[in-house]
Amino acid sequence: MADPALSRFGIGRPNPALFGPGRIAQLGEGLRGLGARRVLLASDAGLRAAGLVDRVADLIKGADFPVEVFAGVPPSPREAEVEAIHALWQDSGCDAIVALGGGSTIDAVKGACLRHFTGRSLDSLFDDGIQETPRQPLRFVAAPTTSGTGSETTLGAVLKTPRRKLVLRSEHLRPALTILGPELVASHPPRATAATGLDVLMHAIGVLTSNRPHPIGDMVGAESMRRACAHLVLAVANGQDLAARSEVMLASYLADHGITLKGLDAIHGLSTPVESLADCTHADSLGVIFPHVMRFNMPAAAARYAWIAHMIGAAEAGATEDEAALALVAHLTALRDRFGMPDRLSALGVERSMIPELARQAQLSAATRGNPRPLDTADAAALYERMI
Ligand SMILES: [Fe+2]
Repeated sequence: MADPALSRFGIGRPNPALFGPGRIAQLGEGLRGLGARRVLLASDAGLRAAGLVDRVADLIKGADFPVEVFAGVPPSPREAEVEAIHALWQDSGCDAIVALGGGSTIDAVKGACLRHFTGRSLDSLFDDGIQETPRQPLRFVAAPTTSGTGSETTLGAVLKTPRRKLVLRSEHLRPALTILGPELVASHPPRATAATGLDVLMHAIGVLTSNRPHPIGDMVGAESMRRACAHLVLAVANGQDLAARSEVMLASYLADHGITLKGLDAIHGLSTPVESLADCTHADSLGVIFPHVMRFNMPAAAARYAWIAHMIGAAEAGATEDEAALALVAHLTALRDRFGMPDRLSALGVERSMIPELARQAQLSAATRGNPRPLDTADAAALYERMI
């Protein structure tokens, strides 16, 4: 049953956010509060075809801001799109940018923000890290149209250059304002809702089992898990169910808070290399990887997995710790299968010859280092071998 208290509220940290149906109507007010004068709206072709880009552009115009539109962000943002957004931003004289879309659009805009305030290529930022601070405030607003990636509130951006796919992080990449409107997610198709929803679940699992202790991180991770498990199937079945959409949207947001406090585990740590080398989606990669990493983690995380299983009703009351922990793995695996997601790396285009490089790249990930059970290169290779 949906939480009746879950209607409209504001959030101050880690970045200001407005939650609730219809909040997008306050976009103009938000932009004015940031001191904007000319606005670039970045989105994708699907949302333009659905009429949402024009609706939001009209809202911005209605608040007396000139607006430029870039509606060409593809599903997996690459350096070329980041450069295109950055070039339009520079050429049009805009001083504020709104990302309307899923994680791809928000991350592409984050890449453009990095280009804007560092003046450097993404590749050089991957190599050297980000030391610069913006010379002027970044007037960056995120209005997500999916629930799952978390990019609307986190400091990270997943970006792809011709050489690689990596995560860039900077405190300066958090949007100055996030607008969380469940109606913006209503047209997100069932398969894609399932995919982003699985990502929320994996964020919550990662937060709850990461080896970095933080009691508040555990609280928000647990609440994220509870809400996502109770409402994701409903949101997939009926996208117009705004109560279920609100629940999953909040679950996503809470998991993102948890990531900020605790980081993630090796499910995400082993996923990024697969996405980098095989060009598959984040959710498909996570879906293959999570049961293997969770079973690997049993010696260190069984108690926590069992606790989660009881919380979401996946384990019998009298189950032993190991039985309950394995019941969680089985419950999540059944959900993945119900959503029709792949269960082998070979289905994602991964070949056995890639395993040494996958295992090497997995060690570069902060999420792998946050795993509850230490996981070295040989462990990663053995796990990938089992997933092929
Ligand atoms: Fe993720």
